[in-house]
Amino acid sequence: MRSVIDILDLKVEEIDELIDTALDIIKNPEKYNEKCKNKKLASLFFEPSTRTRLSFEAAMIELGGSVIGFSEANSSSVSKGESVADTAKTISCYADIIAMRHPKEGAPLIASMNASIPVINAGDGGHNHPTQTLADLLTIYREKGGFDNLTVGFCGDLKFGRTVHSLINALSRYKNIKIVLISPEELKLPSYVKKDVLEKNNIEYSETKSLEEVMPQLDILYMTRVQRERFFNEEDYLRLKDSYILEPSKLASAKETLSIMHPLPRVNEISVSIDSDPRACYFKQVLNGKYMRMALILKLLKEAGRI
Ligand code: CP
Repeated sequence: MRSVIDILDLKVEEIDELIDTALDIIKNPEKYNEKCKNKKLASLFFEPSTRTRLSFEAAMIELGGSVIGFSEANSSSVSKGESVADTAKTISCYADIIAMRHPKEGAPLIASMNASIPVINAGDGGHNHPTQTLADLLTIYREKGGFDNLTVGFCGDLKFGRTVHSLINALSRYKNIKIVLISPEELKLPSYVKKDVLEKNNIEYSETKSLEEVMPQLDILYMTRVQRERFFNEEDYLRLKDSYILEPSKLASAKETLSIMHPLPRVNEISVSIDSDPRACYFKQVLNGKYMRMALILKLLKEAGRI
């Protein structure tokens, strides 16, 4: 059974195909509004979410299907000690496809190994978030027209930010990509991502603490929230949480064509006064996420022979 746990589970050509489908959905939404009639999405969220959960649910409803599920671990039998494996086997009896978010790295993979329906990783701990990456890729495609020859700055919590890890993986497959990693020492990109992704694919990258210093080079600035829920102590979080706050004055040296992205939720790291800047793309990412999730649900249900 085909599942999507990691963005690399999708070939570059398949990402192109998902983008084409998403663009067609945007153009001709009525063509798609019965494609998943009588099909059910199980939305299993063991960790809080606004965008991912509601966009998966909106995606299935807009495809003519319906949604079952839960939005917190306490309202499922996992709170009584049931395993992820048994949960996945059980849900396979009720639904056609699963979207799962879980605080533990690897939980959606375990679910996919036990389910008889496709499982989509909707974010696992500090590990991966492939459907946010699909939202990010559609946004980059619509803003820049492609993925080659871009200098992309990732700023903030690069250690725990699963959206960063997934997007770096995805970008590593395109031509002449340059990555600029901007973070405090304690929140640097994990060395396994540097070695296994950037160095293995010969991607040019640099690390710095100064956003101002690198701003003029960037085609895309991907801001991130410091992930409070993954810190071991509150003191460290409080010390690091406001390491980077993007304000209009900091954009003085930025390109006119810069795209400012953020997977959201934002806390303090982008001033609301940036929202009206034409370079701000983060609410476009939110909408693009719904279209790419529609395209992915369609693809996986087709491959599973369910539509
Ligand atoms: N970007 C993202 O994953 O947002 P949510 O946590 O609200 O789903």
